[in-house]
Amino acid sequence: MGRMAPVATHEGPDSAPSATTSGLFLVLEGGEGVGKTTQWQRLGDALRAVGLDVVAVREPGGTPAGDRIRALLLDPASSLAHATEALLFAASRAQLLHDVVEPALARGAVVLVDRFLLSTYAYQGAGRGLPMDSLRRVNALATGGRTPDLTLLLSMPLATAQARAAARGVMDRLEQETAAFHERVSAAFTEALSPAWQAEHPEVGPVVAVDADSSVDAVTVRCLAQLVQRWPARFRDAARAATGALVGSASDTAAHPSAPATS
Ligand code: TMP
Repeated sequence: MGRMAPVATHEGPDSAPSATTSGLFLVLEGGEGVGKTTQWQRLGDALRAVGLDVVAVREPGGTPAGDRIRALLLDPASSLAHATEALLFAASRAQLLHDVVEPALARGAVVLVDRFLLSTYAYQGAGRGLPMDSLRRVNALATGGRTPDLTLLLSMPLATAQARAAARGVMDRLEQETAAFHERVSAAFTEALSPAWQAEHPEVGPVVAVDADSSVDAVTVRCLAQLVQRWPARFRDAARAATGALVGSASDTAAHPSAPATS
């Protein structure tokens, strides 16, 4: 694991998590094929392994109603107007906040979501060309103002990500979109990394890039390093345990490289 630069944190270096620890709302984002879902699973596992209360859910979905909306949204046979699509993503989001995210945050859990509002801005805003003001208003209703504490944006060259996504085989309705659509989505994600963009979109919360063009293990360590930088007391045990496990299995990894990441 690389040496981390000192940064400002929200927790004192020696503070320990306590029963009164507040919930944390973390999001993983990125275009198709960057390995986001694999990292979402691995991060959840790493945090649970050290006893943290973790709720990991994905968008769209994560509730019975949301899973039905997901099926409708991703089915290549669904014919949806752009506005319908945006409203369905927002509807799934509203249900997820209500049923899962808010109760989990209220009890102090770490909530780890695979995609959130930034995906709507990238896919329905930049990709579909829907007006940002409308997306913002609809999603203010869906989120009730809940803002992620941090979004980890997994980044890699678009061509690499697209080749990985194509290698997965069957593509859903969004994945089947044109190269130009995915280029607009990718550019929107990149733009979201700029301080100016984040200042104009406070509802998205802070967004940081994680270089995902590496082994699955290296990307997991980078994600954990981002969390430790901001919340050392809560996450350093998980980072140490995960890093130790990876060092311990280094010879295995060299002999048997990790399986390719899923989306
Ligand atoms: P997934 O493949 O990462 O599970 O995401 C499902 C698809 O839905 C993916 O192509 C991105 C897309 N999506 C949007 O277009 N808007 C959104 O707001 C969200 C959450 C996902």
